[in-house]
Amino acid sequence: MFKREYKINVYGKILEEGFKKLSDFADISFYPVNKLPGIEEFECQNNDADAIVTWFTHKLDAIYISKLKKTRVIANYAVGYDNIDIKAASSAGIIVLNTPDILTNATAETALLLTFACAKRMKESILRVMTQNLEDVSPSFMLGKDISGKTVGVIGAGRIGSKYAQMMHSLGCNILYHNRNHSQLLDDSGFRYTKLYDLLLESDIVSLHVPLTSETKNLLDCEKLSMMKDDAILINTSRASVIDEEALISLLNKGKFFSIGLDVYNNEPYPDPRLLDFNRVILLPHIGSATYETRLKMAEFLSETILLALEGKITSLNNIVNKDLLESII
Ligand code: GLV
Repeated sequence: MFKREYKINVYGKILEEGFKKLSDFADISFYPVNKLPGIEEFECQNNDADAIVTWFTHKLDAIYISKLKKTRVIANYAVGYDNIDIKAASSAGIIVLNTPDILTNATAETALLLTFACAKRMKESILRVMTQNLEDVSPSFMLGKDISGKTVGVIGAGRIGSKYAQMMHSLGCNILYHNRNHSQLLDDSGFRYTKLYDLLLESDIVSLHVPLTSETKNLLDCEKLSMMKDDAILINTSRASVIDEEALISLLNKGKFFSIGLDVYNNEPYPDPRLLDFNRVILLPHIGSATYETRLKMAEFLSETILLALEGKITSLNNIVNKDLLESII
């Protein structure tokens, strides 16, 4: 049986019902904030915290981590964990958990939603209806693009990228993918592995599914964005910084791209106003995994795995981010 004396701090307005079971074994304090408090307040709040739960908007750098004197687990309510200095957490002996798998479908569905919205010019159509600006409705009004038959380039063949690739394939698309390594699953599905350059040159639709790391920052810089087809659709549901947003805006100003669908952009949640001026740029406020079912499961999964990690039952956990630490513990 689990001990009952744990103290856990949850940052972010996370569904509290997801922590119901955990509350039988721990005192949980909820801090429904998108930014962590100042360093002194943070230290004070966490002087007796065994675990903390954070979201991707909470920047846990080495200084913040150094204030976690008693904490043994940081559980990030997201699959991405670029908001956390993982090296600092490992040096402090803190296990970092995330939420893989559970949000794969929800996030791939959001990428699909943006793909459809871009191809079918949904923002422009809705704006026209909302403003009753419909004088020119005709058989050649608001012509979008078919999705079936298009070549789709998927960058990143992790869980979400693979799911999106399969979804697009089921719609009749020809799939190319680029990843650091070959994916058995995608190779077996008959999808073609390509170099990034070839993918960008050949694809009608490009979708990004890579984590943000020093290698993927500005992965699509001006040169690579320029290589894409002039009427391509570009979708990003991963992290804003994998695209050079300035370069994107400047290319959009030159008339490049059919449409861009972004669930992530710089300075979230408030986008650069220049992006709002383009009818063919569709923005969502980072809602990739935001369905009730998924967000509840994410909280329940973290609850369970936090307890296991605190109890030292870590060998069964598939969501430890700093595996290097795991190796030194077992
Ligand atoms: C959301 O962006 C996540 O990483 O889960």
